[in-house]
Amino acid sequence: MPLEVADFAELAETYAQRHPSEILTLAFEMFSPSVGISFSGAEDVVLVEMASKLGHKFRVFSLDTGRLHAQTLRFLDQVRERYQVPVEVFFPRPEAVEKLVREKGLFSFYQDGHQECCGVRKVEPLRRALSTLKAWVTGQRRDQSPSTRSFVPVIQADPTFSTPTNELVKFNPLANWSSRQVWDYIREHKVPFNPLHERGFISIGCEPCTRAVLPGQHEREGRWWWEEATRKECGLHSGNKVA
Ligand code: ADX
Ligand code: SF4
Repeated sequence: MPLEVADFAELAETYAQRHPSEILTLAFEMFSPSVGISFSGAEDVVLVEMASKLGHKFRVFSLDTGRLHAQTLRFLDQVRERYQVPVEVFFPRPEAVEKLVREKGLFSFYQDGHQECCGVRKVEPLRRALSTLKAWVTGQRRDQSPSTRSFVPVIQADPTFSTPTNELVKFNPLANWSSRQVWDYIREHKVPFNPLHERGFISIGCEPCTRAVLPGQHEREGRWWWEEATRKECGLHSGNKVA
């Protein structure tokens, strides 16, 4: 019998304090090869490193919004070569991007918010990526955003992208890890990382919507800085409970 939402809540409790590798192992045991790591080209590379050590079949996909930094694009290819995994890159639908840009220009998000552009450039391609999967793995962490990620569980029935014909499961193996733990892991295991991290970028998204932060600033202040903290989810993780 397929597992229900409550079963995943129970699993999440059981796995809440487990190492991210154990949570990944569970994801692979339950769903391999129909499980994909959603890789943004930032420090979530630790998930690819951990997955590659586990020896299960898995997929890695990335959403190329057309507005990523050149360094991020190069990093995606570096990861592809290093881990010998075909990073599946999903692009937005050209007609939708062309319509948005024709009607509102290339930087409309500074005027009327990022939701529309993210909808076209990230959410629709994500929907397509997920349509071929039973489960996906994200690099979300609770410490990334006190306003929108404080309650992220390590495992959940996907509240946003499940459909009547495809009950998706979302694994967030790093949910309880701190940024410090992620970076200790990167150093200890000599994991390659996006060079933007050496230039003051902590959180990395699209170029026009990401900026470096000053010492002591929270990483989320470098994303969509012209908007309120509680609105800083682009739709990929819009089902998160707000604090
Ligand atoms: S975002 O929603 O605000 O952009 P964030 O940059 O914090 O998300 O990343 C959290 C997780 O969302 C990443 O670890 C990754 O799993 C997923 N994600 C974000 N952006 C992308 C992307 N461009 N491609 C694939 N996955 C992404
Ligand atoms: Fe568009 Fe900015 Fe969202 Fe990227 S982060 S899809 S550029 S609004």
